Amino acid sequence: MTKEWGPLAGLIGEWEGEGGLDHAFKHSKEIVFDTTFREKTSFKPFGPVDNGSQSLFGLDYKSAMWRDDEADPFHTEVGYWLWDAATGEVMKGFVVPRGISVLAGGTTTADATSFTMHAAVGDPRYAIGENTYLAANASSRTYDVTITVGDGVFTYDQTTMLVMKEFAEPFPHTDKHTLRRVG
Ligand code: HEM
Repeated sequence: MTKEWGPLAGLIGEWEGEGGLDHAFKHSKEIVFDTTFREKTSFKPFGPVDNGSQSLFGLDYKSAMWRDDEADPFHTEVGYWLWDAATGEVMKGFVVPRGISVLAGGTTTADATSFTMHAAVGDPRYAIGENTYLAANASSRTYDVTITVGDGVFTYDQTTMLVMKEFAEPFPHTDKHTLRRVG
């Protein structure tokens, strides 16, 4: 029944986790810092979306991450994940409310349980957009994510390469988490 969503079918639902790990430069302490976090993520199916002869099936995506018992999330993402069965393209289009938009993409098979997506500044298809401040001070150059879907669990492992004024070399800002299905 959900075969139209290809490798995204196993993500449909509500997810939670408490063991997320973020690696970033923390301005308040001026150090590279590993933050553990909890997360709620939801994927709601829609489709088809037709572009001429193209037919996409997708997931409406919302995600939020909290530190410890803080009331407000310290990171959120909203967007759409998409599957094009004709080309085998899987896509994650999302916005980070720092003023960053990403359309990451990759190719895989309909029955894949693990797949990767990539975006880079200036790529003609899978690109990153960012505001003027970030372009000058903390620019997201590439984004890579690996998704693995299991029975009632899914994992993401992602790296955003940042060119930051604090570092001579590009800095890998990483996040990983395993979430369990709660609905
Ligand atoms: C689970 C996902 C993510 C979490 C939990 C997270 C968390 C964080 C944290 C804690 C910081 C440090 C802020 C500070 O203390 O100064 C940060 C910085 C940053 N993040 Fe993320 N992040 C995530 C994903 C992303 C993604 C996907 C992108 C871009 C595609 C991104 C772009 C940035 C940028 C550009 C900064 C630097 C801001 C600055 O230095 O002024 N993050 N993030």
